Amino acid sequence: MCGIVGYVGHRQAVDVVMAGLRRLEYRGYDSTGVAVAHEGRIASAKKAGKLANLDAVLAESPLPAATTGIGHTRWATHGAPNDANAHPHLDSEGRVAVVHNGIIENFAELRAELEAAGHELVSETDTETVAHLLHDELKVTPDLPEAVRAVCRRLEGAFTLVITDAQQPDVVVGARRNSPLVVGVGEGEMFLGSDVAAFIDHTREAVELGQDQVVSITKDGFEVTGFDGSPAQTKAYHVDWDVSAAEKGGFDWYMLKEIAEQPQAVADTLLGRHTTDGRLQLDEVRLSDDELREIDKIIIIACGTASYAGLVAKYAIEHWTRIPCEVELASEFRYRDPIIDRSTLVVAISQSGETMDTLMAIRYARQQRARVLSVCNTNGSTIPRESDAVIYTHAGPEVAVASTKGFLSQVVACYLLGLYLAQVRGVKFGDEISQIIAELEKLPAGIQRMLDEGQQVRDLAADLVGKRSFLFLGRHVGYPVALEGALKLKELAYVHAEGFAAGELKHGPIALVEEGLPVFVVVPPHGRDQLRDKVISNIQEIRARGARTIVLAEDGDTDVERYADTLIRLPKVPTLLQPLVATVPLQIFACELAVQLGYDVDQPRNLAKSVTVE
Ligand code: M6R
Repeated sequence: MCGIVGYVGHRQAVDVVMAGLRRLEYRGYDSTGVAVAHEGRIASAKKAGKLANLDAVLAESPLPAATTGIGHTRWATHGAPNDANAHPHLDSEGRVAVVHNGIIENFAELRAELEAAGHELVSETDTETVAHLLHDELKVTPDLPEAVRAVCRRLEGAFTLVITDAQQPDVVVGARRNSPLVVGVGEGEMFLGSDVAAFIDHTREAVELGQDQVVSITKDGFEVTGFDGSPAQTKAYHVDWDVSAAEKGGFDWYMLKEIAEQPQAVADTLLGRHTTDGRLQLDEVRLSDDELREIDKIIIIACGTASYAGLVAKYAIEHWTRIPCEVELASEFRYRDPIIDRSTLVVAISQSGETMDTLMAIRYARQQRARVLSVCNTNGSTIPRESDAVIYTHAGPEVAVASTKGFLSQVVACYLLGLYLAQVRGVKFGDEISQIIAELEKLPAGIQRMLDEGQQVRDLAADLVGKRSFLFLGRHVGYPVALEGALKLKELAYVHAEGFAAGELKHGPIALVEEGLPVFVVVPPHGRDQLRDKVISNIQEIRARGARTIVLAEDGDTDVERYADTLIRLPKVPTLLQPLVATVPLQIFACELAVQLGYDVDQPRNLAKSVTVE
């Protein structure tokens, strides 16, 4: 996720902004830039790659002394991570500089309008349109905050914007819709940041901005309004983190931060992909409708957690599209001589986009003439570059080795693919698709609830800290949830943990059950009563043999209460969406158990974030 810094005060702006960007590095980025207001012109520098690359540019051509500046670390969404697409973006006269976090959904039409009016845009970004719109607006409305409000009223989507105007160097203006922005209140200096880490070295007094607000900072104060110009309420707070915590956004571990970001990751992955009339638009799917109609088989290939996201997706994709769908471990795929041809759609799921097993599998699939679509979180990485089409998950960078928000956003992206295929092939009506999308859009609230209720799971972990073996059971989409719960526990807490399809238990694994063995069981929602009843029978079978049952069941499911030693309540959601809420407590449990055991949660032993060897 992009990082943003803004500064007005008495120090050298470049130094303050660069230090702030360094503190925001934890957010992950692929290019950086900085701009200052100097003698009626913007002076700026930007560079693809890490901050060290920008340091080198600034060492060679230093920016002029200035006390107002903005800066940005970019996590690419629109356009490759290169110098031209790095922020800040300027208008054609070099008067205003803009940095941005988020996605401006209507940027294509705004860009077309600007180009028709003679503007020349030099990047592929959605952000640059804002600089050009401001250029025009400032001619009508010379006051920068007023001009920013006018432009914001034209923007759709999610955005944090921070802007400096060389002709008004005493002020920096920020705007916020959906993406975060905080004000840092110093003495004789003010800051803006994506989070407080941006200015924690200078002040711990912060002000949180609300939705659809515009803030202008000067060295002596700040003013906040709504997009319509009316005065707005804000919330001031004191930051009590230390500087090392600031690098992880205030969390002790990246994994905890990433677990907490899941409502946003899911919302961002859904953002801008369907129109109000219920049609899905997956702009990155560069396969024609005719090609998609020719598909007669889907093979999902992935590794580890991504393969479990694929297993969840298989149920939905087959159900919605009626196309046979298999899931295969990428490391096994090309060694079994798979039957694939031009009418096979191979879907590669990879958070990093660099996993070697998955990459080799898609290369093989393309040699066999299959069409390859990747679901990926890392813009410009190798797997999407070598695919015919890509759907990006907008989860933001995932730093912790254990994948969390990656998993949830992969499931959502695969669901969008399934619905898109159903739409193109005419096997679902628009209103049916809209209904499912509406359910998906409710998920961030459900996930947030699981986070809010996390203490129950943390207490459970403290209670089970001495246990060396755990089982996880589920049926249907609950089965991959069980596999994922077990994988998280193995990789973080180094304990024996296995996930099983609950129906398989009696075919062998039930022999493992002994007095006090903790067994997590995911119970399907009501409405899948045949399935649900079977899982309830399975709980009784293991309980009769001494298992300690930890049951995950939806609100209002009272039948399970008497079989649960611990009952974790889930919000009511349709069956196919249950994995997106049920996985969250299992992530929290694994993380907390590892913490209790004193292990490094972010970098478990023997593991790498991205496995680039076969
Ligand atoms: O980057 P990828 O999604 O391709 O990575 C796949 C697996 O290596 C990854 O999901 C791994 O299983 C995680 N450590 C699980 O938490």
